[in-house]
Formats: sequence, structure tokens, C-alpha cells
Amino acid sequence: MQELTVKVPAEKAGEYRIEIGTDILGSVWAKIESQFGSVGKFVITDANVAKAGHLDKLFSGRDIPIYVISPGESSKNMNTLVSIIEAMENAYLARDTVVIALGGGVVGDIAGFAAAVFKRGVKVVQIPTTTLAQADSAIGGKTGVDSSLSKNAFGAFWHPSAVYIDVATLKTLDDRQYRAGLVESVKHALVADEKFFEFLESNLDAILRRQADILEQVAYQNCRIKAQVVEADPTEKNRRRMLNYGHTIGHAIEWGSGFELLHGEAVAIGIIAAGMIEIEMGLGDSKRLERVRKVLGELGVPVKKPANISKSILIDIIRRDKKSINKWPRFVLIDRIGNVHRREGQWAVEVKQDMVEKVLGKL
Ligand code: GLY
Repeated sequence: MQELTVKVPAEKAGEYRIEIGTDILGSVWAKIESQFGSVGKFVITDANVAKAGHLDKLFSGRDIPIYVISPGESSKNMNTLVSIIEAMENAYLARDTVVIALGGGVVGDIAGFAAAVFKRGVKVVQIPTTTLAQADSAIGGKTGVDSSLSKNAFGAFWHPSAVYIDVATLKTLDDRQYRAGLVESVKHALVADEKFFEFLESNLDAILRRQADILEQVAYQNCRIKAQVVEADPTEKNRRRMLNYGHTIGHAIEWGSGFELLHGEAVAIGIIAAGMIEIEMGLGDSKRLERVRKVLGELGVPVKKPANISKSILIDIIRRDKKSINKWPRFVLIDRIGNVHRREGQWAVEVKQDMVEKVLGKL
């Protein structure tokens, strides 16, 4: 078992611990009881997680109110949020409630947001069960739901009070989801740590076999990298933008595909697009891009834009990106593996629209 502490501003939560291990789920409830005492608890999960047996391990016979959402991004909306809040009211929960998010990115985002807004804010514990959530979304306090026009249009920074990562929960994860979520690990390596990238390159077989000791190391490196960035810039004023590497074009592709593509799959294409922009701007070469393409290819995620998503639709979605200023966002680029290119102290830099259009034409 490994542990890390994430320090965030005191008014946001102070600090929280991340515990990483294999087959630890059965001991988590006792830890939650000892951290928070006998206050009200409310578990949010999805139907896939409920089927996988993780709830039984977590509860071991306890009678806890639970809300089960339908799996997938289509649940991440205001209607589901309202139903969750009303279920919490029906359970007579008060301001000392602890919300427990057991699941992937959608569960974590909506449960975190429900915790942020229920009675002006209650605590949340994140127990991520997917490669995506264990690498990224359960850590750092980004929560929210989508509108009918864009992803995460409603949201809040709401840091968890604890995170428990049990890599054994990944054993039952469907293969496509498993592979797609690993793209966030590749992203972390590309922006922050060349050694981690080499570790991923040389351990891909073991990772794809879901070998627990290697998965614990991957989880630890993801959390270490993400914690450092979040501590330095919890509300994404500048440095935290680096974690959006591949995401600006990736989010547009995800949305443009009508969520046919999983988040990680779309981000993989976005990472390739970023690599192509880097070549256009003299920040990278095709040898580096091929190295990245090889890792993503071995993960089995797509590395080309689906032909049915037009360039003009993508440009329109990119213009709506919540990080846009004057309807055009800045882009995170790297100048070598493990290092983000900065200009005048900015971690996201200007890239002209015609250059993005050129790259989308070749993607
Ligand atoms: N997923 C990027 C971030 O948490 O900042």
C-alpha cells in the first residue's frame, strides 16, 4: 500500500490523503467511519459498478443509502443531478453528510458536484474504479455536469476529503474503457516525466495484463504528478492547464462524436494533434511523434480523427471551449517528452486557428 497527501487551500479542504493498494476495498469503510464518525453517508455509483460486486466489498452488509446512475456520459447532466439531490433530501441527510463516489469519471464528477451544491457543500470521498478516474478525475477536485451544448458547462472545484484507489477494481473493467483510461497516464508522462513515459513504454504488456504491482506503480506516479500540479495551482489559473494536454481538440472530438468515442480515445487523437502542431511550430519532430503514436497504438486506442466529424464542426466546438478567451482557446504543447513549452510564463500558448485547421485536415 502506498500513500500520498495532496495539499490544497485550507478553505477548500486543507489536505487529503490518497491511499493506493490492491484488494483494499474491504477495509475502506472502516477508514471512512474512523475519519468522519457516524455522520450520514450517501453512496453514488453506476449500474456497471453495482454489477461488478465492488459495492458488496465496500459495504459488507451495511445498510447505506445509495443512488445508482446509468453508466456513461449521457447521465452527466442536470436532470441526474437534481434526482440525486432529491434522493439525498429523501434520505434526511444533513450538512455533515459524506458523499461517497464509487465508480469512474462520470460518477466522480457528478457525485463531487452533488457534494459541492447539496446544502451549500458537504464532504466527498472518491473511490475511483476505472483507469481514467484512478489516473485523473478522482484527484484534483474538478466536478461538474454537461449542458446540452458543451462538456462540464456546470461545475465547481470541490476537493475530496479522501481518495482510495484499489487497483483490483480494474480487473473487471471492460477492455475498451480500461485501455482508453490509460491515455491519461500517457498524458501525465508527456507533460511531466520522461522516466514515467519510459516506464509505460517498457511495461505496456504487464499493464495490459492488469498486473497489480505494476498498476500500483502507475497509479502512484499519476497521483504524484497530478498532486504536484494541483498543489501549485488548485483552480487552474495557469500551471494546471498543462493537464489539458491533448484535451482541447480531444474534448471537441469526444463531443463531435456524440460520445461514440470514449474520453480517453478522443484525448489520444488530441495528443496526436498536439504533436502535429508541435512539429508545425518547430517544437517537436516526427521521431518523437512516432514514439507517442506507438505507445497509443499499442494501447489500442484510435490515433486518427473519425472521418465523419468535420473540421468545421470541430472548430465550432473548440471556440466554445470553456477556457476560450475571445472565442479561441490556448493550447498546451510540449517541447520534449516530460516538459511543457512555456511562453512568457504561460503554460498554454497561442496557436493560430489556421494552423489548427491545417492539422485537423491531416489528422
Ligand atoms: N483533468 C485535468 C485536471 O484535473 O486539471
